[in-house]
Amino acid sequence: MRSSMQSLGASLLLLLSSPLPALALSTPTTIFTLPGPVAPASWFENLAIRPNGKILATRGDAPEIWQIDPATGQGSLLVSVTGAFNLTGIAEVVPHRRPQLQTQGCLETYVFGSSHIPAPLQVEPGSAKVWKLQFPASGAAAPTVSLLAAMPNAGFINGIAAWGRGRVLLSDTEAEAIYLMNVETGAYTTPLTGLTGVNGIKAARGYVYRADHLSLTLSRIPVNHDAVATGPAEILATNQLIDDFALDVSANGQGKAYVGAMYNNNVVKVAIAAAPSSSQGAKTLVADNLSGTGTGLCTVVAFGRRPQDSGLLYATVGQGGGSASIVRIDPSA
Ligand SMILES: *[C@@H]1O[C@H](CO)[C@@H](O)[C@H](O)[C@H]1NC(C)=O
Ligand SMILES: *[C@@H]1O[C@H](CO)[C@@H](O)[C@H](O)[C@H]1NC(C)=O
Repeated sequence: MRSSMQSLGASLLLLLSSPLPALALSTPTTIFTLPGPVAPASWFENLAIRPNGKILATRGDAPEIWQIDPATGQGSLLVSVTGAFNLTGIAEVVPHRRPQLQTQGCLETYVFGSSHIPAPLQVEPGSAKVWKLQFPASGAAAPTVSLLAAMPNAGFINGIAAWGRGRVLLSDTEAEAIYLMNVETGAYTTPLTGLTGVNGIKAARGYVYRADHLSLTLSRIPVNHDAVATGPAEILATNQLIDDFALDVSANGQGKAYVGAMYNNNVVKVAIAAAPSSSQGAKTLVADNLSGTGTGLCTVVAFGRRPQDSGLLYATVGQGGGSASIVRIDPSA
């Protein structure tokens, strides 16, 4: 997220001098823009796509989650979180199989983070919290928000990823660590440390994939059942402005990531080789100028989950100083 950007000027210069191949650029389509004043600028920090295809978007400039229907472009405030200031990552929890938990009627659960960020680059120490958003089994009832854990010893909870049933990984950019949290108790361990610039994270096939916005890399770490490293990290891409990303890899770890490239205002595809791999994949520019204004901030990319958009991408973009938007991209176009 942008509040943790250091050495950004140097990064931008580096990147501007190395243009990426762009075979056929996809034209981003803006599907939703936050209403309200454009000053100060609003921004979405993260996205989760519901099984029904609707988009949940956390706001970095307000304690709000918005829900957007990609079929109509209609969006509205879903929940306002009392006791939070600025929301960060969000991820759906893989549901428990145990039937007694399912009959409690909380089938669809998300974990999201918050911090107090009074101004850009200023995170209030000790303000990190982790919350649960739960949709009751009855589709008509309103979702509920509850505090899962206050984390006064954490720095800045940034990215969140599901980890098996009932657990999530949380990246802490300031502590340079990843926590593993039980979604029922809020208890957590710290399986991964020493992760400079850790930002967006994803878990897949025995690996934790993670962005590093300081050294501008995407990498993956082989881990055990409790997310403890079992081998060295593999670097998948370098020299890449990166925040959060969408990941699509098969059982052998081969596939691709679509990277939200922060102030580059674009989305980049990274080809990923089968694991283990010591070779970096090819990078391709997928869509540029997401904001349509020449400048903008892209924080995250996510796949659609309806049959008609499972191959499409949704990305957040701050409109170069205006209101936050969500754009749709067809990476095959
Ligand atoms: C954080 O949220 C508060 C409102 O809760 C807002 O006033 C402030 O501008 C936000 N910070 C940033 C960096 O957007
Ligand atoms: C961005 O897109 C807008 C709208 O298509 C266009 O007017 C503008 O020239 C573009 N800017 C850049 C830097 O590509």
